[in-house]
Amino acid sequence: MKCSVCKKPAFVKVRYMKKSYCKEHFAQFIESKVKNTIEKFKLIDEDDKILVAVSGGKDSSALLYILSKLFNNVVAIHLDLGIGEFSRKSKEAVKELSKLCNVELKIYKLKDMVGFSIPEIKLERRCGACGLIKRYLLNKIAYEEGFNKIAVGHNLDDELSFIVNCLISGDIKQLSRIGPKTQTKGKLIGRIKPLYKCYESEMKLYCDAVGINYVKEICPFSKGAKQAVYKKALDLIEEKSPGSKLSFINSFIKKIKPLLPKEEVKLNECKECGFMTTSDVCSFCKLVKRIK
Ligand code: FES
Ligand code: ZN
Ligand code: ZN
Repeated sequence: MKCSVCKKPAFVKVRYMKKSYCKEHFAQFIESKVKNTIEKFKLIDEDDKILVAVSGGKDSSALLYILSKLFNNVVAIHLDLGIGEFSRKSKEAVKELSKLCNVELKIYKLKDMVGFSIPEIKLERRCGACGLIKRYLLNKIAYEEGFNKIAVGHNLDDELSFIVNCLISGDIKQLSRIGPKTQTKGKLIGRIKPLYKCYESEMKLYCDAVGINYVKEICPFSKGAKQAVYKKALDLIEEKSPGSKLSFINSFIKKIKPLLPKEEVKLNECKECGFMTTSDVCSFCKLVKRIK
């Protein structure tokens, strides 16, 4: 198997493209895919100050690496969740990566910010609570530090499994909000997903191709069983019919999303913390009260 571009021995076959690539040309293929996504959906403007949320995993690591090649105005933010060895490894990986990318890295300790770390949460749905806490704190950091975009490492498989989940549960409201970006509204900073058209498997291969050392272990508290089942089902479809995942997201964005009712969400400031919420007190403040 030879690289379709330079004819050197191939590193990977991209079935939906009917092409094979060496490491160098695979990296170029992914980078141009991300660049096209950014341009097509107008995710980044020249004067944006972008916060890249890096966990140390493959997706956010690849995201930081690619964005730092394309833009100057990028800062990496890592939340230290205090999950023992997992967090220690994540922090080391992120430090090494930011040096490789020559990007400023700021590390925030969850314990310092809210007074507890993830293992201290005694709720059954600890992983869900963790997601909410991370979203809230990244937004708070972005707002207070003057960033106007938060870039997250959501890949194509993450987005599709979320769509499937919404379809199965009939959650039309959530479904209508799905997309590669959200707008900034008051203290709620817009989020962008530059890896929107990148397969999860491609992110792992990209990290290997360019030499990114990412954390391979998954969080010991991770409980994404439902999401993992949807991803497996989508893999099966992709296996039988290469390119199905891309067709799915493209037809969702072009044909299905425009048909969904657009509901303007009314946001006001949380009585406790002042950040944006749809009710009187935001879910983060409610959660922290329950935890403490
Ligand atoms: Fe949040 Fe695992 S990373 S619970
Ligand atoms: Zn090549
Ligand atoms: Zn609040």
